[in-house]
Amino acid sequence: MAQKRCLLLIFVACIFVADTARTALANVTESGRFNRVCDPARFVKFGLNMKEFPYCNSSLPYHVRAKNLVDQMTLSEKVSQLGDQAFGVARIGLPQYKWWTEALHGVADGGHGTFFDDEVSGATSFPIVILNAATFNESLWKKIGQAVSTEARAMYNLGHAGLTFWSPNINIVRDPRWGRGLETPGEDPYVAGMYAVNYVRGLQDVEETEDADLNSRPLKVSACCKHYAAYDLENWGGTDRFNVSSVMCSYNRVNGIPACADPKLLRDTIRGELVLHGYVVSDCDAIEAMVNYHKYLEDTPEDAVGQSLKAGMDLNCGLYYEAYAENAVMQGKAREEDVDTSLRNLYIVLMRVGFFDGIPSYESLDKKDLCTKEHIELAADAARQGIVLLKNINETLPLDPAKLKNLALIGPHANATIEMLGNYAGVPCQYSSPLDGFSAYGKVTYEMGCNNVTCDNKTFIMPAVEASKNADATILLVGLDKTVEGEGLDRNDLLLPGYQTELILQVIVASKGPIILVIMSGSAVDISFAKTDDRVKAILWAGYPGEEGGRAIADVVYGKYNPGGRLPITWYQNNYLSMLPMTSMSLRPVNNYPGRTYKFFNGSVVYPFGYGLSYTKFNYTLGSSNMSFNIKLGEDIPCRDMEYMANNTGKPPCPAILIADFSCKDHFELDIEVKNIGAKHGNEVVLVYSKPPTGIVGTHAKQVIGFKRVFVPAGGSQNVKFEFNVCKSLGIVGYNAYKLLPSGETQNYNWR
Ligand SMILES: *[C@@H]1O[C@H](CO)[C@@H](O)[C@H](O)[C@H]1NC(C)=O
Ligand SMILES: *[C@@H]1O[C@H](CO)[C@@H](O)[C@H](O)[C@H]1NC(C)=O
Ligand SMILES: *[C@@H]1O[C@H](CO)[C@@H](O)[C@H](O)[C@H]1NC(C)=O
Ligand SMILES: *[C@@H]1O[C@H](CO)[C@@H](O)[C@H](O)[C@H]1NC(C)=O
Ligand SMILES: *[C@@H]1O[C@H](CO)[C@@H](O)[C@H](O)[C@H]1NC(C)=O
Ligand SMILES: *[C@@H]1O[C@H](CO)[C@@H](O)[C@H](O)[C@H]1NC(C)=O
Ligand SMILES: *[C@@H]1O[C@H](CO)[C@@H](O)[C@H](O)[C@H]1NC(C)=O
Ligand SMILES: *[C@@H]1O[C@H](CO)[C@@H](O)[C@H](O)[C@H]1NC(C)=O
Ligand SMILES: *[C@@H]1O[C@H](CO)[C@@H](O)[C@H](O)[C@H]1NC(C)=O
Ligand SMILES: *[C@@H]1O[C@H](CO)[C@@H](O)[C@H](O)[C@H]1NC(C)=O
Ligand SMILES: *[C@@H]1O[C@H](CO)[C@@H](O)[C@H](O)[C@H]1NC(C)=O
Ligand SMILES: *[C@@H]1O[C@H](CO)[C@@H](O)[C@H](O)[C@H]1NC(C)=O
Repeated sequence: MAQKRCLLLIFVACIFVADTARTALANVTESGRFNRVCDPARFVKFGLNMKEFPYCNSSLPYHVRAKNLVDQMTLSEKVSQLGDQAFGVARIGLPQYKWWTEALHGVADGGHGTFFDDEVSGATSFPIVILNAATFNESLWKKIGQAVSTEARAMYNLGHAGLTFWSPNINIVRDPRWGRGLETPGEDPYVAGMYAVNYVRGLQDVEETEDADLNSRPLKVSACCKHYAAYDLENWGGTDRFNVSSVMCSYNRVNGIPACADPKLLRDTIRGELVLHGYVVSDCDAIEAMVNYHKYLEDTPEDAVGQSLKAGMDLNCGLYYEAYAENAVMQGKAREEDVDTSLRNLYIVLMRVGFFDGIPSYESLDKKDLCTKEHIELAADAARQGIVLLKNINETLPLDPAKLKNLALIGPHANATIEMLGNYAGVPCQYSSPLDGFSAYGKVTYEMGCNNVTCDNKTFIMPAVEASKNADATILLVGLDKTVEGEGLDRNDLLLPGYQTELILQVIVASKGPIILVIMSGSAVDISFAKTDDRVKAILWAGYPGEEGGRAIADVVYGKYNPGGRLPITWYQNNYLSMLPMTSMSLRPVNNYPGRTYKFFNGSVVYPFGYGLSYTKFNYTLGSSNMSFNIKLGEDIPCRDMEYMANNTGKPPCPAILIADFSCKDHFELDIEVKNIGAKHGNEVVLVYSKPPTGIVGTHAKQVIGFKRVFVPAGGSQNVKFEFNVCKSLGIVGYNAYKLLPSGETQNYNWR
């Protein structure tokens, strides 16, 4: 009480007092590991009695315990918990906690919370997300999330990781130049939403508690969807479809306001409309960026911290909250109650992941649960499922190992190891490089053909050409790596770097056997020259296939696995880039602006979104399905007009209704029989698109509304059933941002 009065009255002196208090706040580092905060023995070590701390009373609800914990802290103790490296408060038995850990496609060592060493030397590194997305296999996405969270809990038990992971990245890929496309599930919001649901559930769900109260439901680990909001939600993206426990606000502004300081985005939309049960974290140093880069409102650090706290940003990755929140409160730029609210949000999540009480079923996880055979096989399987067959003239693939005495393996990625991981990776368990993978099938002659991916030294080409001359078949492994695309690194063109194209052309001319091109990249590469050249018999895209990538590629090339992946992004031609600047956000085409993504861009592309071949052939037959339906409207629902093309004669009398006016309970069904009419077992991704009625001006051409990956044995068939909500699947967004359900008829729908 005395101190509080002092804070109000003697301002300058108190800052001084606060500063000394800060240095006196030693980090609560503990010798030895602890399974849970609320362990009486731990408290004894601090000379405390746990019974005196209601926040450790497990018969009280989490919100009561969190409030009790926060209420016991002084302001300066409170603000020192608001950064990603929270100090802890020894006085009340609260240890330090490092919030920032990453698990984009395996436990990674970015952030402060995770590390690898002799004791924990690796964790399973799954394919990069864009390749996982290409599998279009929801159960795989969840299974990877489960494997990652098991390894994460094991690492936590070993003192090598936290429990709060800032993954997945579900931003929509709008521009093929974007350096972080590889981290995401691609350009379609529906696919990205389904990916997020499954990966987040794999990370978070504790078996048999999925239906428990959302405020207290236990979490295996806490996931975080990022980055909110660089991109608008013009579509029915999955953002409101999953129960993630954290959201990261992004560096950029949305309509002029930095995302992390925007109460409409954070308090109203994320916590309000989308009902976030969890915490909001800033991208790293995002508040500093507001002050020093955005120069938003000429903010002082205290202004920016105050705005962020009031907007509902709970945790700052960085140091700004810890350094300035106390002054911000004292200057009246935020209320201490804002700090309390944020801390309660944070501690409830830590309670749900068992930081305070432990989760007994995870306590036995340890080293034996890292890099298990099962997880390594899952990584290999994910890569095989994701690989996309883009071209296969005259069934050149699969290769028959019995007929190949000598294979040439050429290219900067022919012996790729760390390059196969992409970004946000940890230390893998092991590597299977392409050279390892192909060597398992027979004799291989290896030449890099380039000095590295940059490929700026021609002298490596000749030895590659020589190797190819004598080979029964040549596999060319080319593409990009982290030095070409990544965080903070957008591309200037969509071509293969340096002399890679020249390498391919020279090998084509010289080679004795067929040429098979394998591209490792996250984003699109314009390889039109290889697509149209008959001497390139086959092309595969392998993303960044993870630690088992080499084996997976070889298994596909030799037909041990029949590829079924589909491109989750459009592969544009390089000239697309000259049609629009990267900074333009608009999806819709206008005048000379070509529009973005398969939904709006109608020009020619190298390979379209959803493209992918198989070694077998599938045929679809439509079973009992709703081909049309009527919706009865009450008198209270007015018709909305829509702009139709001038030459269109089919405009219905009631062109559309506002979705907000309507219950949206109607469903429709599709029942599709997928027959495998070829000679090989295969995996088929059934993609269902909806197309708006013909003739509406400015609407999307089509959009994904459902997908399912199925295995169909040769000669066999599989029935695939879908059920759709009329508004979610057939709604469109008008120019004025109204969500509308149009009436009318679609022409020219087609089957694969
Ligand atoms: C507490 O830990 C953080 C991060 O490890 C470090 O930067 C800081 O200097 C430490 N503070 C004290 C008082 O030891
Ligand atoms: C824990 O809370 C319950 C419910 O309020 C109470 O009955 C019990 O006495 C508390 N335990 C301790 C050790 O304070
Ligand atoms: C989120 O959880 C709620 C309650 O358990 C459930 O109704 C909802 O379907 C869940 N959403 C997803 C996408 O799992
Ligand atoms: C495919 O095979 C047929 C029959 O052997 C041959 O005539 C044709 O030229 C081949 N096509 C290409 C592009 O190699
Ligand atoms: C392949 O890469 C591994 C790991 O970088 C390296 O140890 C090995 O020597 C390389 N093999 C060849 C033939 O260059
Ligand atoms: C590629 O190799 C060249 C020559 O050794 C080197 O200068 C360049 O930095 C390398 N590039 C990368 C991305 O490693
Ligand atoms: C290209 O690589 C060769 C072999 O490593 C080296 O001798 C030569 O200096 C390099 N040329 C350039 C321009 O870097
Ligand atoms: C593609 O879109 C542009 C811009 O809206 C339009 O002018 C053009 O007619 C469209 N082309 C085709 C083939 O539909
Ligand atoms: C493929 O399906 C279409 C109708 O969906 C049918 O007309 C055709 O005969 C089928 N082809 C084979 C080989 O089954
Ligand atoms: C109307 O014009 C558009 C764009 O020029 C064209 O694609 C479409 O086929 C025309 N429709 C009719 C019914 O003529
Ligand atoms: C679609 O067909 C099913 C089964 O015949 C029916 O129950 C449902 O009402 C239909 N949906 C609509 C929107 O008409
Ligand atoms: C989808 O992934 C699961 C999990 O790895 C796998 O068992 C299943 O075979 C896959 N489905 C298809 C059709 O590939």
